[in-house]
Amino acid sequence: MLENAHFIFIWISLLFYLMRGGLVFANKPSKTITTLSAISSMALFGSGIAMVFLISNISFANSWVMTKLVGILLYVSLGVIALKPGLSKPTAIFLWLLGVAVFAYTFAVAKLFLEPII
Ligand code: HEM
Repeated sequence: MLENAHFIFIWISLLFYLMRGGLVFANKPSKTITTLSAISSMALFGSGIAMVFLISNISFANSWVMTKLVGILLYVSLGVIALKPGLSKPTAIFLWLLGVAVFAYTFAVAKLFLEPII
């Protein structure tokens, strides 16, 4: 149940992250999409943390859990920093894409390291 929610939030969060950046770079920023993006990323984070607490053979001491925690914090922070007003467009696009790369890396870590453990 939580796991299914986590899987859905992965794609919703990425979708809103991409939409939010696309709209900002097209000079049409949307407060609604920004809010939905923040909510879905928090839901991804929350469902992940909840699973660590609920699944007894997964702990915060697992290196992949730490990697995912750092990954989601970087992904969310890069999105916030990149889309703040005041940055030059190339810098903003670079930081925003870096956020996508961190997301992809975190996804890959989950896919590569999770299955053998569980
Ligand atoms: C960018 C953020 C994240 C992405 C892209 C992501 C992606 C994934 C993916 C793809 C899986 C399924 C792996 C598989 O079995 O095939 C997964 C499972 C899981 N994730 Fe995340 N995740 C993210 C953030 C987090 C965070 C922050 C935590 C908590 C520290 C977390 C905890 C978990 C746990 C515990 C599972 C295992 C569920 C199970 O198989 O029983 N995730 N995640």
